[in-house]
This record gives sequence, structure tokens and C-alpha cells, in this order.
Amino acid sequence: ELYNFRQIGLDTKVHGVIGNPIGHSKSPHLYNAAFKSVGFNGIYLPLLIDNVANFLNTYSSPDFVGYSYTIPHKEAGLKCCDEVDPIAKAIGAISCMIRKPSDGKLIGYNVDYLGAIAAIEEALGGPSGANNGSGSPLAGKLFVVIGAGGAGKALAYGGKEKGARVVVANRTYDKAKELANKVGGEAITLAELDDFHPEDGMILANTTSVGMKPKIEATPISKKALSHYSLVFDAIYTPKWTRLLQEAQESGAKVVFGTEMFINQAFVQFERFTGLPAPKQLIRDTLARNT
Ligand code: ATR
Repeated sequence: ELYNFRQIGLDTKVHGVIGNPIGHSKSPHLYNAAFKSVGFNGIYLPLLIDNVANFLNTYSSPDFVGYSYTIPHKEAGLKCCDEVDPIAKAIGAISCMIRKPSDGKLIGYNVDYLGAIAAIEEALGGPSGANNGSGSPLAGKLFVVIGAGGAGKALAYGGKEKGARVVVANRTYDKAKELANKVGGEAITLAELDDFHPEDGMILANTTSVGMKPKIEATPISKKALSHYSLVFDAIYTPKWTRLLQEAQESGAKVVFGTEMFINQAFVQFERFTGLPAPKQLIRDTLARNT
């Protein structure tokens, strides 16, 4: 099903997702189906990569036009760009890379934060759902981001941009502190998270791989502590119902699935890869079939 759609020819544009591990990725299903549905002559491959720079140097043909980046290469990918979008530069990580047709230069973007923040805002009642004058229901909220890697940075910057008070909780305190300083927020260690509840109604976003298949019994926060949160987002989308999201729902919090972040950023990436409007329903249906 993945590649059985037409011949690969001289004009076929090659795309892929760069990560390690990569077997869990739904992206190849999604983009290949979407390319086909709009008649775009492109393919999209899962790329198990150890060294991003070596890969890009080896596969430097102009036909290799677009890449998505996932764990653990979002920061390494940024260092391999010829140019970096200002938001990606501030975050310090890219989620996609496009080769400019005119001069072959590799341009890095970060669209993770667009997808995640849009999904959280929607669950909170839409971009102006809080009717608090700021335009975002995240404004003024205490927004706890677990993790300080590429995705953690993306969420922390996104929260700051929407006027939230950001707290970064990370296993390695120094990385939490560095990110918190950049976004004008507070830093705690992951071990401190269970006892951190300065107020109720906080928003939680997990950006670590804790709870991802196959270690689905893992969770970054105790169930007891979840009672202080009104909404919990998990960037993990395999499985859809992580232990974190199950316990959040049992505690009465709204939940936002990793698939929503993924879907929203997939629309943006598709449009950057092809220059065509994303077939949104097809992308949703394809993802639903492959989850
Ligand atoms: P991504 O780009 O997807 O954010 P990353 O840059 O590799 O991936 O970041 C991984 C994040 O998950 C980090 O915050 C990492 O914590 P450390 O900074 O302490 O390494 C966190 N993480 C990964 N595995 C973890 C685990 N088993 N327990 C706690 N945190 C973990």
C-alpha cells in the first residue's frame, strides 16, 4: 500500500522523515496517500539515520527536496541547514527542511509548535475562546512543559507567544533552566513535578518519549498530581491513549492527543512540500486507518 501507486521517474520528488527509531512513524503512509490524491509526483520514505550531516552530504541530489525531522534529530538537523526560519532559530530545532529549487539551499522550519498550540487552543475553546482580550485562551495560564528537547522548546516558545506563564520540567535540570530563561519562565526537575501545584487549572504538555510504544506503562507524572490540571496534551501519538492521557481523563482534565499536533503540522508541511493546499480530510482518514 505504501509505495504501490505509480512509477518513480526522473521528475519524482523525494521526501522522507529522518529519525531513530523510525519504524513507528505514520508519516510515509500519510504523505504518500496525500501526494497521490492531489496528483503530485513525489514519494516519502522512512529514513533511519544515525548521522544527519553524513546523510545529507551523501544524498545531495536536487531530487531530494523535503525532509521531516523527528526524535532525536531536530537539533542536529538545524545545524545542517543553509538558512533557518527565525522561529526555528529561536526554538533551536527544526521539524522540516526544504530544498529551494532555485539554488539547492536547504531551509529549516519548525512547524511543530503551530500544530500543538493550535490543538491546545482549540480544546480550550478556540483562539479567542477565553474572551480575555488577549485573543488566546492560553494567556495568563500556567503552562507546564515536560521536556526541554526540540519539541519542548517548540511548546515553550509557543506558550510564551500566547501569553502563558511557562514552567519547564525536565529530567536534566540544566536544560530546563536554559529553556526557562529563554522564555522568561520557571524551571523544575521532572522529580519535582509530582509536588508542583502552585495553583489549580494548569495546562500540561508532555514532549518527552516517556510512555511511547513499546514502554506504554511509563508516565512522566503521578495520577494524583494530575488533579491540578484542566488540560493535558501528550505529543506522543503511538499509542493514541498514553497512560498519561488515560489518567488525565480519569482525573477530569480535557485531553489533547498527539495526533492533533501531528495532523495540524502535517497540513503545513504538505503545503510547504508541494505548494498545494493540503487534502485535510484525506490526511485525517489516512491517519485514522493507520493508528
Ligand atoms: P525532541 O526533539 O522530540 O524533543 P529530544 O531533543 O531528544 O527529542 O528531547 C528529548 C526530551 O525527552 C528531553 O527533554 C529528555 O530529557 P533530558 O534532557 O534529561 O535528556 C526527555 N527524555 C527522554 N527520555 C526520557 C526518560 N526516559 N525520562 C525522562 N525524560 C526523558
